[in-house]
Amino acid sequence: MDKKTSLKWALCITIIFVFMTIVWTNPREYFSSNSYIRDNVIIGNAECSIHSKHKNISPITNSKHFMVSAFKDHRINGKTRIISILNRDHLQPLFCIFCYGKNNYSTPAQIDMHSDHFGFRYVTTDVLCQNKPECNATHVTLSVLPNMLASHADFLPIRNQKRQEEAFPYEFTICISNLFGTYNNVLQFAQTMEVYKLLGIQRVVIYNTSCGPDLEKVLRYYSEEGTLEIVQWPIDQFLTPSKGWNFKEHGGDIHYYGQLTTLNECIYRNMYTSRYVLLNDIDEIIMPYQHANLHLLMEDLQHRHPDVGVFLIENHIFPKTQFDNSGRFNRTEWKKVPGINILEHIYREPDRKNVFNPTKIIANPRQVVQTSVHSVLKNYGGTFKVPPDVCRIVHVRVPLQGRLTKEQLFVDKKLWEYEKILLPNVDNVLNKSGIFN
Ligand SMILES: *[C@@H]1O[C@H](CO)[C@@H](O)[C@H](O)[C@H]1NC(C)=O
Ligand SMILES: *[C@@H]1O[C@H](CO)[C@@H](O)[C@H](O)[C@H]1NC(C)=O
Ligand SMILES: *[C@@H]1O[C@H](CO)[C@@H](O)[C@H](O)[C@H]1NC(C)=O
Ligand SMILES: *[C@@H]1O[C@H](CO)[C@@H](O)[C@H](O)[C@H]1NC(C)=O
Ligand SMILES: *[C@@H]1O[C@H](CO)[C@@H](O)[C@H](O)[C@H]1NC(C)=O
Repeated sequence: MDKKTSLKWALCITIIFVFMTIVWTNPREYFSSNSYIRDNVIIGNAECSIHSKHKNISPITNSKHFMVSAFKDHRINGKTRIISILNRDHLQPLFCIFCYGKNNYSTPAQIDMHSDHFGFRYVTTDVLCQNKPECNATHVTLSVLPNMLASHADFLPIRNQKRQEEAFPYEFTICISNLFGTYNNVLQFAQTMEVYKLLGIQRVVIYNTSCGPDLEKVLRYYSEEGTLEIVQWPIDQFLTPSKGWNFKEHGGDIHYYGQLTTLNECIYRNMYTSRYVLLNDIDEIIMPYQHANLHLLMEDLQHRHPDVGVFLIENHIFPKTQFDNSGRFNRTEWKKVPGINILEHIYREPDRKNVFNPTKIIANPRQVVQTSVHSVLKNYGGTFKVPPDVCRIVHVRVPLQGRLTKEQLFVDKKLWEYEKILLPNVDNVLNKSGIFN
């Protein structure tokens, strides 16, 4: 052998030796059939929660994207789903960095944009991360690089660590997306909350960007009472949110203050806390017309449609411009309370030919993957459209068919059935939250 050949051999043997040492000390990393383990870069050592400064919307460092919440999804082998808001003009590969104890590791992210963005630049997106089951990661963050410095990280806690298929703390939770502007419709809100309770709803979740001064007091009251969970949603600090649903008409960065993001966040947030989740607006009441409450309605519907997890409920408009003639609920107590008195609006608009009534949703959250406002985008199991005579939404608002006279509208006094309990309950709330003073 000449000198050159022996040098080559020596190099070769050294490389083989180094490789075998690595494999010997860390065999699972190299011979696992799971590709995600091969793809991992182990960059461990940092206490996860120290790096968590999360406040519901977090910019992804060095990108135009945002992350919102992380959930373990037991339906897809415990992968982590990060509800995010991505800028469609700047799509790029992302990496999930998982943290467990003092260690971290990263995996490439799978990006699943929701199909509905209504032309806006920012779109609700699920970022899916394959985690190592043996590591029990408690926190995760997204990065444009596979290894990031700790100082840049904002780790999200991974929620829904434990799967639960029965015995939920609540039977019904309502998800109300984005409160914004100076919305101060106190009377309608208090009345609506009290009707919800009589229908058997135990919990309401509201995403708050901003609201009026009196509504603020009532929100605080319900929050202290435990009925209301307020999720702060400072989207206006990060983006120019649109006040409308369509980019061409309304402009802005994102549909309705990020409504699609909050609705999806709410589904996952309540996946194991509530048997059913209702997705409706703050001025809408999903009202059973043939059952005494929502429990009886859903028991009946679910019995008839055991495989269905998504129930669509038609919206019906009760114009706030048409008042009940009798003046029965024109009460002096409520004269100075800002907002609409829904008990005075008993006239319902008829269906229009060739116009569909939009729907809102009652869902088993464990069957929903992605939702939109009026229907779900991806789900397991079936969908059922509930006939309006069984259940419909009572929606007191500006008319859609403003030309119709009282005679052309239906009289619908469903809400009056709750009068006896409703009036004292609403008074009590207004009194205790300081609206009467
Ligand atoms: C991950 O671990 C590496 C190596 O210990 C460390 O330098 C880095 O700061 C950690 N990254 C994060 C985001 O905690
Ligand atoms: C991960 O969690 C499971 C179940 O809680 C537990 O049995 C296991 O020992 C944990 N593994 C580690 C590495 O902490
Ligand atoms: C709603 O958000 C605004 C703006 O951040 C804040 O001033 C207000 O206190 C919040 N209200 C509640 C009830 O959390
Ligand atoms: C309610 O009562 C007041 C008088 O207290 C009256 O001025 C007002 O027109 C009434 N409103 C309706 C819709 O009947
Ligand atoms: C408000 O509550 C107080 C006691 O908490 C009661 O004395 C008062 O009558 C109530 N006022 C109204 C208008 O209900």
